[in-house]
Amino acid sequence: MAIVTIPAEARRITDQAEIRSFLAVHNIHYEVWPLEDRVDPASAPEKILAAYAPEIEELKKRGGFVTADVIDIYPDTPNLTAMLDRFNKEHTHTEDEVRFILQGSGVFHVHPHDTHSAPSAVFAIEVGGGDMISLPLGTRHWFDLCSDRRIRAIRLFQDMTGWTPYYLEDGVHASYQPLCLGPAWVAGAGRTAL
Ligand SMILES: [Fe+2]
Repeated sequence: MAIVTIPAEARRITDQAEIRSFLAVHNIHYEVWPLEDRVDPASAPEKILAAYAPEIEELKKRGGFVTADVIDIYPDTPNLTAMLDRFNKEHTHTEDEVRFILQGSGVFHVHPHDTHSAPSAVFAIEVGGGDMISLPLGTRHWFDLCSDRRIRAIRLFQDMTGWTPYYLEDGVHASYQPLCLGPAWVAGAGRTAL
């Protein structure tokens, strides 16, 4: 269940329909896919990809993706810090970044440049199991894991080279901490004003 936070506006969105419309304004596509009802999210990658074949085929048709895989990151994944350091600085890609989260969680920060006036405010999208997100190519963003450093996700690619990050030099990411609230927060536990 995603949570969107816009720090500059002291605003937080937890309603899934509202999140969907907020992100759509920035051309970010967000959906909630069935999880345990469909397949055990801990299943082998082939079983996962087979279970979500209809959704993956639909995305492939819509977005020109050619391949899908399942990425598994654990706290003891070799070279994890170096891997995360590639993506936790503001960057863009030459293809859409599409992820369906199976287990674990993480935070995308987006730095919108979709208007001709001053840049819009940076916002964070916390994603967890069941969330499918598609950031269009060219979106300025960065990604952090939550403190448990665990994520399992389906990724879609148009071209493996398209996943290369192109860094921006404005250093915006340095002003934001990845704050992970989690589903318990959405349910009301420990909820505080922003
Ligand atoms: Fe990225």
